[in-house]
Parts: sequence; structure tokens; C-alpha cells
Amino acid sequence: MKTDYNNIAKEYQLSKLQPWRRHVEAYTFFKLAGDLSNMQVLDLACGDGFYTRQLKLRGAAHVEGVDISKEMIRLAEVSETETPLGITYYIQNVLNLQLNKTYDLITASYLLNYAKSREELLQFSQAISRHLNPGGRFITINSNPDYRSPVDTMFKYGFTRENKNYDEGGEVIYRFYQDDGSHIEVVNYHLEKTTHERTMTQSGLSNIKWHPVELSPEAHNGSDNDFWQSIINTQPIIGLTCERS
Ligand SMILES: C[S@@+](CC[C@H](N)C(=O)[O-])C[C@H]1O[C@@H](n2cnc3c(N)ncnc32)[C@H](O)[C@@H]1O
Repeated sequence: MKTDYNNIAKEYQLSKLQPWRRHVEAYTFFKLAGDLSNMQVLDLACGDGFYTRQLKLRGAAHVEGVDISKEMIRLAEVSETETPLGITYYIQNVLNLQLNKTYDLITASYLLNYAKSREELLQFSQAISRHLNPGGRFITINSNPDYRSPVDTMFKYGFTRENKNYDEGGEVIYRFYQDDGSHIEVVNYHLEKTTHERTMTQSGLSNIKWHPVELSPEAHNGSDNDFWQSIINTQPIIGLTCERS
């Protein structure tokens, strides 16, 4: 089953309000992104611009976003119209992206997990490589290929994760719950860490490193520290960085 974000754009936007997004996902994402000053940044699978806007607000010189979903880009452009940040958005499939420009930093929060096969992951890696300046960096937060916990382990944070199997291309179903008990489903695909490493190397990317997600100091020092242990101990999502040789 393929996920069409055109049908769930608003609901997905709501799921970004769940506290784990800020305290784990966003905290790790920006830690990996590092100093953004003077950076020309491309945000792939930018969705409604959740990270695209923050990259600009946190100091990047210029930011552009790409997503395959017209509706997600429409929402991003509504924000840009309401609060202009000078961000340009493109509706494009990253599998064959050709912007004819290069960037200092490419980011992607949940792109690689939409590759259904080694071949598609190679296409994503090649698109990243050809849009990076030499020495430019790619940083991503992605579904963790090594996660093996029961489906409901993350339920207290507002989502579940179900791997149909651990074959290459096997479906990984995420369900995001709202306060009223309703939920949306998105389907990702399982590809081993070694498949990521090999396709990146084959695309001219090097210094490939996996980074466990971390808890923000704010949550760490809060009274809810025990609450966060499951997500930090089991790592349903993971960071990955590399650079163009
Ligand atoms: C989980 S959402 C993440 C959105 C945003 N990065 C965020 O963190 O809020 C995944 C996004 O990837 C986009 N996407 C999936 N496959 C894509 C592809 N081949 N090219 C471009 N965008 C893609 C979807 O349309 C969706 O907006």
C-alpha cells in the first residue's frame, strides 16, 4: 500500500504537534544539522515545510524545499504567504530530482524510508549526491532499520510502528493517533543499514554515520524523564549523516 500525503496532509500536520517530535525528532535533527549560518540548504521530502521554515529561522542563508505531494507543498506555500521567509518550494519526485543547482547542506526528515527497493534507495542517494557541493553534508532522520520492538511500544507517545517483515522492501506501518482516538497510517519500507551504506558509497557519499536519537535537555531535566525512556532505549527512528566526497 502506497501512502498518498495529499489525502492526509492536515492530519499529518497535527501529528507534528506530538511532544516526541520536538523533544526527540527535532532535537536530534537540528543537532545533526549543526551551525546553519551562511548555509544554502535543500530540504527533501519537506512536507508542509515543518523543518524547512525552522532551518531558515535558525540562521540558514537560503532554504528550498522539495516534496512529491501537491497538497503538502500547498500547505507550505500557505505558510510562506502568511509569513514570508524567502523559501522556494518545488513539487518534484526526489527519485529523479534535477534542480541544476548544488547546496551546502541537504536535509531530509523521512525520505529514505520511502525507497521500496535497493534501486530506489540508490536513486535517492544519487539525487542527494548530485545536489551537494563537494564537502557538502546530508543529514536525515529516518525509520530505524534495526528497530525490533512490539507494535505498541510507542503508543504512549501517540504512535505505533508495525514491521510486516524484515525483508528488503518489507512494509513498515506507522499509525499516528489523535486525541479523539482517530488515526492515520503511513507506510514506509524496510531496507537494511548495510543497503543504505552501500548505495550511499556507490553514489559518491562518504563518512556515513548512524546517530541514535537523543532527548532534548528540556525533557531530560523535566519531571517526565521516565516517560521518555522507551523511545530512547528502543530507537524507532534514527539519524544518518554523510558528505559528498
Ligand atoms: C513523513 S512526511 C515528512 C515531511 C516533513 N519532512 C516532516 O518531517 O514533517 C514524508 C514526506 O515525504 C514525501 N515523499 C515521499 N516520497 C517522496 C519522493 N519520492 N519525492 C519527494 N517527496 C516524497 C511525502 O509526500 C511526505 O510529504
